Amino acid sequence: MSGFVEKPEPVQVPGLVHIHTGKVRDLYRNASGNLVMVASDRTSAYDWVLPSEIPDKGRILTQLSLWWFELLADLVPNHVLSTEVPAGAPDDWQGRTLVCRSLEMLPVECVARGYLTGSGLVEYARDRTVCGLALPEGLVDGSELPAPIFTPATKAEVGEHDENVPYEEVARRIGPDLAAQLRQMTLAVYSRARDIARSRGIILADTKFEFGLDPDADKEEPRLVLGDEVLTPDSSRFWPADSWEPGRSQLSFDKQFVRDWLSSPESGWDHRGELPPPPLPDEIVERSRAKYIEAYERLTGLPWS
Ligand SMILES: Nc1ncnc2c1ncn2[C@@H]1O[C@H](COP(=O)(O)OP(=O)(O)O)[C@@H](O)[C@H]1O
Ligand SMILES: [Mg+2]
Repeated sequence: MSGFVEKPEPVQVPGLVHIHTGKVRDLYRNASGNLVMVASDRTSAYDWVLPSEIPDKGRILTQLSLWWFELLADLVPNHVLSTEVPAGAPDDWQGRTLVCRSLEMLPVECVARGYLTGSGLVEYARDRTVCGLALPEGLVDGSELPAPIFTPATKAEVGEHDENVPYEEVARRIGPDLAAQLRQMTLAVYSRARDIARSRGIILADTKFEFGLDPDADKEEPRLVLGDEVLTPDSSRFWPADSWEPGRSQLSFDKQFVRDWLSSPESGWDHRGELPPPPLPDEIVERSRAKYIEAYERLTGLPWS
């Protein structure tokens, strides 16, 4: 079992048509045919969207994505048109709304990894490969890879797991030219972001991008546009560089508190079982919020307000 513990109702705004409720974002179409993407404070773990929210999380993710989009703009075009809140929308949409170009999203989670951990580590321990790519011997949890690698995954529905797929499978699905472009772009953007994060004392261990096709481009010459959110704690593993120590699991800026609490006896919940997860205690909510703010402040160098 998995999915939403409580599925949120879309907000009714004159002139907007609700089109999708994602794990975190609600999508609407406006009268001009553009996408209005509203990042909620929802949070997910173990394939569940939890019944508790992390106040301001959607705003932090949106502001951080905007900061990155600008720093990456010379490398790759992005989907952002404006941050204007549509007339008649709730005040709470301020800071969490992006008006975007509606893209034809490619059905691939474009993951770049510069360090070994997570599902990559599991596969490495078994086969000494990650997504079928051979790696040198002797790497441990948290090791830096000799060079960043592209490890695509299929995009799963809410409540399902993303699954790593070999590059050849991506090429088969979307064609070899587009697959090669995705790989090249994913690695270029990852490398730029890794260097920026590093200069701020943060290791970008891995991250996931979603690209779409520019609907106005010539069909013969498809143009990739970076969509969704970018380089947030929800889509990336960030580790503080000063405590990085390969050979153990690293401290992180993501949902570690939430996952640790949910898997502790205190929560009384079995993440392998059939029942939905319980609400988070206030202390876990507050500590998670502080982590999101810390990630924003350390990366951008700006105070969260
Ligand atoms: N520019 C875009 N055009 C169309 N769809 C987009 C665009 N940017 C992001 N999306 C889609 O919007 C959704 C964002 O909501 P999110 O809560 O992150 O969903 P998910 O549960 O799929 O992660 C994703 O399905 C993503 O693929
Ligand atoms: Mg998403």
